[in-house]
Amino acid sequence: MAIQWFPGHMNKAKKDVAARLKGIDVVIEMLDARLPASSANPMIKALSRGKPTLKVLNKQDLADPNVTRLWLDWYNAKPGTRALGLDASERSPAQRLVAACRELVPNRGGLEKPIRVMICGIPNVGKSTLINTMTGRKIAKTGNMPGVTKGEQRILLADDVELYDTPGMLWPKIEVEEGGYNLAASGAVGRNAMDEEEVALELIAYLMRHYADALTARYRLDDISVLQDYEVLEMVAKKRGAMFGGGRPNMQKASEIVLTEFRDGVIGRITLERPDEWTAWVKKAKELAAQRAAEKQARIAEYEAKKNKGR
Ligand code: G4P
Repeated sequence: MAIQWFPGHMNKAKKDVAARLKGIDVVIEMLDARLPASSANPMIKALSRGKPTLKVLNKQDLADPNVTRLWLDWYNAKPGTRALGLDASERSPAQRLVAACRELVPNRGGLEKPIRVMICGIPNVGKSTLINTMTGRKIAKTGNMPGVTKGEQRILLADDVELYDTPGMLWPKIEVEEGGYNLAASGAVGRNAMDEEEVALELIAYLMRHYADALTARYRLDDISVLQDYEVLEMVAKKRGAMFGGGRPNMQKASEIVLTEFRDGVIGRITLERPDEWTAWVKKAKELAAQRAAEKQARIAEYEAKKNKGR
């Protein structure tokens, strides 16, 4: 089963974001550093096409620093794009954001041509935390400015750099199966939209491939190289006393333990996707979609042929 998660109201959000983007010079897209590609909202990519974009890989304190570096290089190599890593411990994040925005739009700046920036990100990525850190006494009420909704908060990152929040909620759209699991593991997907055991097993399988030492150390496991993911989950259940009467492991409870501990960062600094993996997952997802479309076409053709024969 793939994770299905695409709550409603996207059309309204799309319209609002499109309208908001008109007067914007730079889009800051907040991503979860543990799953940068999966936590991107494809709608933003489509709507902000051509706009200089700053990718902020937030929660870098939870992510694998070596993989964060790979992602930063990957994004920084894209035209019109800058990327930086961030986490909530940074006391003055505005300075680095401002410097990156200035680099992206060198022709703007100064009070005559202030740089207008929109910040967006899927829920739980840490947008409110960042905005709260940056506001302090810098909030300015918007006056009669073209394209700015009355009452909308304008945050001055510098005298000539204005930050606007995205109107409405931007949910992730799951287009790649692995991305769905990563979003679910990170906590960005509602509990009722996923099977926690399935998500925990996917997470364990990834950890076994990339972070076996951290997994082994956290749950005091012996050699796991010959085990299957569900066998590892059973061992976690045993180690943590998540058992039913009769000695049967409580896989649901064990799944919750693994997911919570991953989200809290106590298993280690972990990133669930690398740029090359992501590229391969996208390719696979596209091939699968093309295959499904071809199968559908073939079914329609077969149906039409039968119908015509019967005439
Ligand atoms: P949002 O506006 O994008 O929806 O996200 P928000 O700022 O509410 O942050 C979501 C959760 O992520 C919060 O935890 C917040 O503390 C945490 N968070 C934000 N930035 C960082 C970061 O850089 N590193 C880490 N480790 N965590 C971060 P919460 O458990 O939902 O709430 P609370 O613990 O703050 O009460």
